[in-house]
Amino acid sequence: MYAITLREFGGPEVMMWSEVPDPVAGPGEVLLDVVASGVNRADLMQRQGHYPPPPGASEILGLECAGRVAALGEGVTGWSVGDEVCALLAGGGYAEKVAVPAAQLLPVPAGVDLVTAGGLPEVACTVWSNVVAAGRLAAGETFLVQGGSSGIGTHAIQVAKALGARVAATASPQRADRCRDLGADIVVDYHQDVPAQLAEATDGHGADVILDNMGAKALAANVTMLAADGRLLVIGMQGGTTAEVNLNTLLRKRGTITAMSLRGRPVDGPHGKGAVVAGVREQVWPMLADGRVRPVVHATVPMDRADEAHRQLEAGGVVGKLLLEVPIG
Ligand SMILES: NC(=O)c1ccc[n+]([C@@H]2O[C@H](COP(=O)([O-])OP(=O)(O)OC[C@H]3O[C@@H](n4cnc5c(N)ncnc54)[C@H](OP(=O)(O)O)[C@@H]3O)[C@@H](O)[C@H]2O)c1
Repeated sequence: MYAITLREFGGPEVMMWSEVPDPVAGPGEVLLDVVASGVNRADLMQRQGHYPPPPGASEILGLECAGRVAALGEGVTGWSVGDEVCALLAGGGYAEKVAVPAAQLLPVPAGVDLVTAGGLPEVACTVWSNVVAAGRLAAGETFLVQGGSSGIGTHAIQVAKALGARVAATASPQRADRCRDLGADIVVDYHQDVPAQLAEATDGHGADVILDNMGAKALAANVTMLAADGRLLVIGMQGGTTAEVNLNTLLRKRGTITAMSLRGRPVDGPHGKGAVVAGVREQVWPMLADGRVRPVVHATVPMDRADEAHRQLEAGGVVGKLLLEVPIG
């Protein structure tokens, strides 16, 4: 098969569309013929050598894909050869074929085409495991997502809205309207004073749940913005890894800070990828099927030109997901 390989760690130019051995479906796994894969910020970090795959995972980039079941490994039930599916991956999505644990498969949601489905599993699993499972966002609460126009942000706005929350998002001013169109009630410019803008828009309440992509750079502001009993969910470190937190502020609010990665989770167990995928299928897939949540695709690029997609994501200004489509023939 062909796949994107890395000549060395570095810029987008190190990616090559090369012939590599086909993967094989082991026990409990399914082999997929990939149709499309989603591009994630983590892929840029892996390409640069800053985000190695977890032990045992494919070295090939790609944390999600959609395609057709080509073969079933020993012991797999519930799926058939030819089924159209999408999958959460620990790696290997930038390729014509990938082997994935059956527990990480999802059906293509009703009303979503196969290529578009390739960009859903990573955002849906990240948002559900944080905002729903850990954050317990409830109807009537205020939710803030940092980076509202991102792949994660565009999905999180819609899921939070479908859960009945009041939704706030940070974004660049030129992308504020896109966040409003997706359901954000409040959009604040992340270049300005975010806590002051949110306090004004919420009459001083702040946010009950915050989904944060910035890490260290936004930690103090995020703690300031938490409402009483608020939950801060850190998923990204675009603004660094190390910062101080004022425990007195956090304590007085009875606040919690959680930082979680999806990729490193085991497949099985109560906090494994299989449990996350099952939760997404039960609670988020119906939102896609009835149109409360719609996939947001910025552009689709041929997979052998993955370098172009990485350049676009690095440049900023992408709204929603970038997809890589496997070239035909
Ligand atoms: N923990 C996990 O399991 C997990 C899983 C998936 C993703 N993530 C993380 O989630 C984040 C979003 O992922 P993605 O793939 O959707 O990324 P993405 O599409 O590349 O989006 C990055 C976003 O950050 C925004 N941004 C830039 N500077 C900002 C600032 N100062 N404050 C707030 N937002 C700012 C950008 O806005 P502009 O375009 O306007 O610059 C852009 O919308 C990333 O940090 C990623 O690493 C974590």
